[in-house]
Amino acid sequence: MTYGDAWGQLYDKVHALQEDVPFWISEAEMATGPVLELGCGTGRVTIPVSQAGVTITGLDNSTVMLAQARSKAKKLSPRTKTLHLVKGDMRDFNLERQFNLAIIPFRSFQLLLSVEDQRRALACIKKHLEPGGRLIFNLFVPKAGCLEKQKTFSLSGNEATCLGKTPKIELEEKSQHDEYNQIIYVKNVLKEYGEGGTTQKRSEVSYALRYTYQREIQSLLKNAGYRILETFGNFQREPLSETSEEMIWVVTPIEPSA
Ligand SMILES: C[S@@+](CC[C@H](N)C(=O)[O-])C[C@H]1O[C@@H](n2cnc3c(N)ncnc32)[C@H](O)[C@@H]1O
Repeated sequence: MTYGDAWGQLYDKVHALQEDVPFWISEAEMATGPVLELGCGTGRVTIPVSQAGVTITGLDNSTVMLAQARSKAKKLSPRTKTLHLVKGDMRDFNLERQFNLAIIPFRSFQLLLSVEDQRRALACIKKHLEPGGRLIFNLFVPKAGCLEKQKTFSLSGNEATCLGKTPKIELEEKSQHDEYNQIIYVKNVLKEYGEGGTTQKRSEVSYALRYTYQREIQSLLKNAGYRILETFGNFQREPLSETSEEMIWVVTPIEPSA
């Protein structure tokens, strides 16, 4: 089962995160041509970018996530004619066209669980970038706290930026850490509460993600034929530093002559 199929209808209830959206819109507006989003999911970023008037293609390997993106887009303004959604795997796709900007928001690159998969995606994306085109993606900075072998916590309502507000949802996360392969296996138990506080629904979602250190990404990008243009430590574009929780990479393919 893919990540998207596992989250299914729950994704939008839990991932109400908004703080990164203005960043992606402004990058998309700065692009001089169409934008490609890899791992577009339910259109959390794709739809607002399209509503800003930018032509964007969203690619995802989950039929469930794409169906939700389509249904949300349908209910929105006619501007969504600038929105195209396609099923595909970011490690191996051919859209037979090029884009000025490719984006991979919300750490979706970390769902590629091996260096080989990461290399394949970077090679494929490169073929889809116009000369001078850019790729932007964000990853979390691996820190001791998030790499614990096992952890359990509950978050509810407004306490977590990632959680939807209504109905109240409680999320319990257990993760197991495979240090050798730099993979975290996450199991989420979600409980949705009704008005009276009684549990209406309990669901389980499991997925795995790979964390990558800064130096490793630098080598990966270099070997994949990309030049790093900029890095940021958050979506307010502050510099990447030892206190950053996010790594945002802005890169461009190295010209053949370089
Ligand atoms: C964390 S969600 C992000 C969704 C959306 N970009 C957002 O910001 O809300 C990751 C998405 O990547 C998709 N995905 C995972 N592996 C993929 C792959 N190999 N190719 C294409 N999409 C993939 C999942 O189906 C899911 O929709």
